Amino acid sequence: MEVTPDLLTPYKMGKFDLAHRVVLAPLTRCRSYENMAQPHNTLYYEQRAAPGVFLIAEASAVSETATGYPHVPGLWSQEQVEAWKPVVDAVHAKGALFFCQLWHTGRKKSHTADFGAPPKLETEEIPQMVMDFRVAARNGIKADPRCQWVPHQPVLVVYGHRKSEFFPASASGPLYQGQPAQRQHGSSLDNRCSRLATDVIAAVVDEVGAHRVGVRLSPFAGYTDCSEADAEAHALHLVHFMDKLGVLYCHMVERRKCVNGNTGKLAIPHRLSPFRKVFKGTFIVNGGYDREEGEKVVRDGYADLVSYGRLFLANPDLPERFRKKVDLNKYDRSTFYTSDPVVGYTDYPFLSHETQVA
Ligand SMILES: Cc1cc2nc3c(=O)[nH]c(=O)nc-3n(C[C@H](O)[C@H](O)[C@H](O)COP(=O)(O)O)c2cc1C
Repeated sequence: MEVTPDLLTPYKMGKFDLAHRVVLAPLTRCRSYENMAQPHNTLYYEQRAAPGVFLIAEASAVSETATGYPHVPGLWSQEQVEAWKPVVDAVHAKGALFFCQLWHTGRKKSHTADFGAPPKLETEEIPQMVMDFRVAARNGIKADPRCQWVPHQPVLVVYGHRKSEFFPASASGPLYQGQPAQRQHGSSLDNRCSRLATDVIAAVVDEVGAHRVGVRLSPFAGYTDCSEADAEAHALHLVHFMDKLGVLYCHMVERRKCVNGNTGKLAIPHRLSPFRKVFKGTFIVNGGYDREEGEKVVRDGYADLVSYGRLFLANPDLPERFRKKVDLNKYDRSTFYTSDPVVGYTDYPFLSHETQVA
């Protein structure tokens, strides 16, 4: 008899055995000074690691021009690979699965001294960007000689650029000479929107294998002036593409909560079913979930896994708290992007500490 899964039942994602369905969402913390992982990064991830827990690391920049925010880690140099190694080792020593998120902040590309108004990215810059993802993916593997921690989510840079500026609908034929992901691009959607994304995904898959690659998509995001009228169609196009390549997981962010007409309460709109239907690999949802909502979507088959950002940040033992159905620590928004190595980062209390104090 088939048992209905719930949030805390084990799950097999590709070759990885997970103890439950609660995942740490990637959280940029601006504490990796000089773009290097630090000893306090080790402590932070170690606190959240436990056997069979799936942790997605904060976004790592694929190049010096990809950082977007101050003090984010990178994966473009050997020195950065070395800095990540103790973090990876500590997470593995506790039996957790660790994926690194690769990103380029696109139009919001960085200037080391000035994080002000972003310049427009030029089409000519794209092949280098794709190559940067490829190299960073390779570096991710180097950070663990046993090859257990692996990339990656090319965070698709739907983030921070207007894709049409890159890929005018009139473009025809391959733009990137000599690139591994070279293809003919027939439809304007393929050309315009997802060209950068598909090329990055194809390059990373080619580099490390689809069984080690997940992709995170936020088609409903509107930050940094990047919302697009047909973002859902773009995302669906990408999900088809990822499915064909056999990408390990698809991680999607929900539309922001809105008021439910029946209950008058804020609720997640649950708009991800069309993507779930297309993608045969592991489907992860994110955005405003709590324990009850997570339970529900796993039970209903809407998602395989649920990732938690702010709740996991504030509760290093979140899965344990869910299991025991106890109160959660509240997150402190004011410390999300400050750079202290302790405050708002490694100082959220564990359940057992609280219990002892009580
Ligand atoms: C402090 C902070 C940092 C974040 N950094 C990242 C990031 O590096 N990469 C990413 O894809 N999303 C990032 N996000 C978005 C989260 O992964 C997640 O989508 C968001 O917090 C909503 O999920 P939640 O309601 O469970 O917190 C960040 C969010 C916060 C609050």
